Amino acid sequence: MKLEVDAPRLVSEIEAFAAISDAEAPAVTRIVFTPTDLKARAWLKARCEEAGLTVRQDPIGNTFARWTGSDPTLPVVGSGSHIDAIPNAGKYDGVVGVLGGLEAIRALQRGGFRPRHSIELLVFTSEEPTRFGIGCLGSRMLSGTLSPDGARQLKDSEGVSLDEVRQRAGLHGELEAVKLTSAYCKAFVELHIEQGPLLERQRIPLGVVTSIAAPASLRISIEGSGGHAGGVLMPGRRDALCAAAELILAIENAARTSGAIDTVATVGLCEVFPGAVNSIPSRVRLSVDIRDTDLKRRDGVMQEIDSAGRVIAAKRQVSIHTEVLNADAPAECAPIVVEALSESCRKHNLGFLSMVSRAYHDSLFMLAIAPTAMLFIPCRNGYSHRPDEYASPEDIARGTLVLAEALAALSR
Ligand code: GLV
Ligand code: MN
Ligand code: MN
Repeated sequence: MKLEVDAPRLVSEIEAFAAISDAEAPAVTRIVFTPTDLKARAWLKARCEEAGLTVRQDPIGNTFARWTGSDPTLPVVGSGSHIDAIPNAGKYDGVVGVLGGLEAIRALQRGGFRPRHSIELLVFTSEEPTRFGIGCLGSRMLSGTLSPDGARQLKDSEGVSLDEVRQRAGLHGELEAVKLTSAYCKAFVELHIEQGPLLERQRIPLGVVTSIAAPASLRISIEGSGGHAGGVLMPGRRDALCAAAELILAIENAARTSGAIDTVATVGLCEVFPGAVNSIPSRVRLSVDIRDTDLKRRDGVMQEIDSAGRVIAAKRQVSIHTEVLNADAPAECAPIVVEALSESCRKHNLGFLSMVSRAYHDSLFMLAIAPTAMLFIPCRNGYSHRPDEYASPEDIARGTLVLAEALAALSR
């Protein structure tokens, strides 16, 4: 089979897709179930249908675009990623795996390949936690990691429930229908930018992911006492923001002193109430993201944050309440898919690095129901989740070629 990726077309599709955004270029913002997300979904559906794929959406909006195999009764071979983008993000996170997955299918079609197992492009709803506080919403539900009842409890920052938001987006089926069984997928492969600097630094064109680090996120509410910035003297203060400042540094310190470079903790959101220059902050909400390759160590950091909170609450006479939004285990990728990817790299004489994914991905949850692995391509300076995120056309094309070859091998 002659396998050729149409790199100019793929790159121009990535550019066109980036224009469907709520941020000024080059930044991309695409939050789940906004009019912009719905426009992006429609654009993508049209491209999939042009490729002759059969497209369906499940009740949470996960999209499945199927190239039916010669034996449609067999489990599918899946590939895909997400199209939502955090505020002020770049063009490539998620999108490379979706549009690259589509181009891999088209390359196989052009090469005259006929799969025995159907090949399905999966586009997961809300991999990013921006709107509902929890990442990988679609894949958590597909894998049964998040129950329909758990999902029904989720609300966005305006207090609107996920159920209402998805229904407004035209998704009316029962959430109970989202979960897939482990008989659905023979294998799943996700192409993604590395979001770290290792491939670029070592000048290695591809990364085959063998495990995915354990993510956790917390929402911390701190309640103190507000008042007049002039009238309330310092000894009487119970300033929630000052308590938050101490806690943020304690969180940083817990990660820095874990004993391993693999531990990371980030406070990415700090909401201050009432938010006026001459008013003492009475309430603060923090969002905390903690990750590690080692579950015990990650949980140890969470415990340390909890103890630091208790000490700070007592010292500053504030109350601190912590809600654990998710605390997922790390996962090992499936040897058969790792091997299919490694073999595809060898077949095309491309060097690869076996590596850990420090970012989380829908693949972490697909691993609960399907043999899964990931393929990374380099991104400039390791930048991601920022507007200057960049992957070169050559790297995107190489990743897509190796993905196509692996999909062919897995679907024979
Ligand atoms: C995914 O976007 C992550 O934050 O790892
Ligand atoms: Mn991301
Ligand atoms: Mn991503």
